[in-house]
Amino acid sequence: MARVVIAQLSDVHIPGAPAEQLAGSNPSDRLKSVLAVASRRSSAVLLTGDLAATRGTDDEYRALRALVADVPVPVWPVAGNHDEANRLAALFGISGRNGRCDYFVDHSGVRVVVLDSSRDKLVGGRLDAEQVDWLDTVLGGASASLVAIHHPCLAHDVVSSPSMRLDDPSLEALGSVISCHEVHAVIGGHAHVPLVGSFAGTTAIVAPSTAYEFGDRVDGRPTYREGPLQYFEHSWNDDGSGFLSRLVTVSDEVWRPLT
Ligand SMILES: [Fe+2]
Repeated sequence: MARVVIAQLSDVHIPGAPAEQLAGSNPSDRLKSVLAVASRRSSAVLLTGDLAATRGTDDEYRALRALVADVPVPVWPVAGNHDEANRLAALFGISGRNGRCDYFVDHSGVRVVVLDSSRDKLVGGRLDAEQVDWLDTVLGGASASLVAIHHPCLAHDVVSSPSMRLDDPSLEALGSVISCHEVHAVIGGHAHVPLVGSFAGTTAIVAPSTAYEFGDRVDGRPTYREGPLQYFEHSWNDDGSGFLSRLVTVSDEVWRPLT
């Protein structure tokens, strides 16, 4: 039985101009480095939101398009709070639903379902009842699934503020649907740190940002650094069974043979 591997990169925050990136960071170069590794090891790349640095402008998406143009595997976008969902969907040729970047892809035994939780640049995320109903239908047609949403469905000190996750009504509705289906994991980003927890009987995974990592507050102010360059690999057997996630670190360090 063959193994299927996809890469999950998150919060790549590509600027349209250097002034849009945080001091001491270089999101475009970092994405280039991660894609060089991820596209070699994976059969698809999923970008779980905040593809744009600030607001989802044409300049930001032009820069993003240039970075992903030569990736030899499919690239699937998820809309985040810094994205313009319609513009993003158009960039990747996705028709979406009801003005939202919702869609699914069947990929070697697993249905990858993408939900758009972005709401007019609000920091927090939300899902409409209609989106959750659609998810229920789509999950019902698959034997195994992976659900991708930018905003986390976890509670943690980094994401303890309600604005850093899906709101409570969305979490409740989502949980009631997820628990009725075979969902390997609900995966997302937004927190800019790697997190793993449980949600509605499955695993919730938050991928770190390839652009910069959020830290503890200092003197009451939020902090960041570039941090380790990391992404998640999700893999399964080609019949959809045997799901596994691995956090991969991209580095120039040399791999030495064990003797
Ligand atoms: Fe972000």
